Amino acid sequence: MSENKLRGEVYYPTQKTLEKSQLKDRKEWDTRAKQDYLGFWEDFAKELHWFRKWDKVLDDSNKPFYKWFTGGQTNISYNCLDRHLSTFRRNKLALIWESEAGKVETMSYFRLHQETCRFANVLKSMGVKKGDRVTIYMGRTPEIITAMLACARIGAIHSVVYGGFSVESLTERIEDSQSRILVVADGAYQRGKIVPLKEIADEALQRAGTVEHVVVVKRTGEDVFMQPGRDMWYHELVNFPHANTHCQMQIMSAEDPLFILYTSGTTGKPKAILHTHGGYMVGTYATTKYYLDLQEEDRIWCTADPGWITGHSYIVYGPLLNGGTVFMYEGAPFHPYPNRWWQMIEKFGINIFYTAPTAIRGFMRFGDSWIKRHNLSSLRILGSVGEPINPEAWKWYYNVIGNEKCPVIDTWWQTETGMHMIAPFPSEPLKPGSGGKPFPGIEMDVLDESGKPVGANQEGFLVIKTPWPSMVRTLFNDDTRFVEQYWSKYKDCYLTGDSARIDEDGYIWIIGRVDDVIKVSGYRLGSADIESACVSHPAVAEAAAIGIPHQLKGNAIQAFVILKSGFQPGQQLVDELRAHIGHEVGPIAKPEKIEFVDKLPKTRSGKIMRRVLKAQALGVDPGNISTLED
Ligand code: PRX
Repeated sequence: MSENKLRGEVYYPTQKTLEKSQLKDRKEWDTRAKQDYLGFWEDFAKELHWFRKWDKVLDDSNKPFYKWFTGGQTNISYNCLDRHLSTFRRNKLALIWESEAGKVETMSYFRLHQETCRFANVLKSMGVKKGDRVTIYMGRTPEIITAMLACARIGAIHSVVYGGFSVESLTERIEDSQSRILVVADGAYQRGKIVPLKEIADEALQRAGTVEHVVVVKRTGEDVFMQPGRDMWYHELVNFPHANTHCQMQIMSAEDPLFILYTSGTTGKPKAILHTHGGYMVGTYATTKYYLDLQEEDRIWCTADPGWITGHSYIVYGPLLNGGTVFMYEGAPFHPYPNRWWQMIEKFGINIFYTAPTAIRGFMRFGDSWIKRHNLSSLRILGSVGEPINPEAWKWYYNVIGNEKCPVIDTWWQTETGMHMIAPFPSEPLKPGSGGKPFPGIEMDVLDESGKPVGANQEGFLVIKTPWPSMVRTLFNDDTRFVEQYWSKYKDCYLTGDSARIDEDGYIWIIGRVDDVIKVSGYRLGSADIESACVSHPAVAEAAAIGIPHQLKGNAIQAFVILKSGFQPGQQLVDELRAHIGHEVGPIAKPEKIEFVDKLPKTRSGKIMRRVLKAQALGVDPGNISTLED
């Protein structure tokens, strides 16, 4: 179909964008990938450094445990750092960082490599070896990046826990990963206040018994408890002669684990998504280069937190693999005024800006004048991620932030996919609210319950039919759950958990989650996370949590609670429960609304029917309720 026949509202790339973007013609790649899918991926892999070339690009002999670049040997940290040191990038800025209070720090590739080696030597001196898990719990400071790269350098598996999570979330993640080492900051700055990370970690360590050593990075300088023999200051350790700037890099097999990252699923405890050195490296390298169009002279700012997959892939690994200059900001978006972000875009001349719809909607409500006072002409590419972007927010982003000259790259992907899966290339026509088509060669479809494609514009289950290099390999220590969760509904198809429709032009429109995952401000939470935090409060007998549409956050949490006898419902208990959930899971999990009820709708086998609760809350028809208990 010729492009000028595209249906609906379409925005075409400007001449300048067409000239500048690295991929001029998507069709060429679609054809190439269709003819030789593995050769297509192999070409990206060849742009990176391998100590030994792979024997096979894809090994699919044991589906769904796909393997990529088998026989190949590499190290992602080497590719992010060492590979650049013999080129002019040695002196190029790898990182520009601004603290919430406005202090700026910069690091060249040369220095980032040194700092990473020093951190790696500190970890080694704690006895960390290849395959060991290291939990990292910090704010957005340069050390979170060096800690991640240091783990990768020595073959340890990092498990970063978002600094906005709290005691129980951290406990579960330490315990499940069996980490012996925790890297934590004394605290983190947020809106001028201090989040007491070390104090939260101390409470978690009382519950989780695996950690032997805690490396504490000084950020705030507040007094913190240091347990003798267990806790050590990073700045002291790094001053010992053993923590010098040379650290032997561990050669890794392509399929050796790089990191685990916990994410919420349908039921039960969070799942540890496992990614590997080889495939993840190739996927994040290619998508940063062509979807975000990162080029040599660019400065890229992804506003996510390194504690989520977006930060892993597009603050740390993807941009550094490309030798890009990363900008990272420590603090809160509107602090101290709603122009904080725009001020930094102007000050640092950011070219690629990647954020979430919830932030865009948040800024919209302050009006355009906060933006108009800044010169944002350095911007070239705007990205969006985390939840569907409503066309109104898309247009505001395009018109007001991008001044009608920057394509909005709406990227659909997941912790599990490691890299962008659906997005437009900058040179493609855009439809506000749709991410466009899958990455070349990757086949995706929308299926009905029985596995048949639903047809144009019909809603159904979004699936991925082709394996891709940065796909989740398994759930750490839980192959069974991995197969059940993603690969059992349809044969040889990866189930995304999202519903979507595909229009006549092949553009995919994401509708939302079809499971019990709740996307609050782009953050992924599970009903189960909130419910188990609720019932750990002494007053609560049973609880159910659902997501309901919210103008700013996309979704907000509503909880239904059955109290134990002897407890009285009321505002005081609502406040107490919200505080309790904030303490256990993290502030993002606090329900917007808590309702006390006598009964919860359940199936005859005792499962809570959240769908019925949701229909009730929204005042709509609950659909088929034949399995309802009574
Ligand atoms: O529902 C989709 C939504 O976020 C989910 C994945 O969440 P997480 O693993 O935390 O990763 C978020 C960042 C990649 C998806 O199943 N989602 C993500 N990006 C988009 C999106 N929904 C619509 N449009 C997007 N661009």
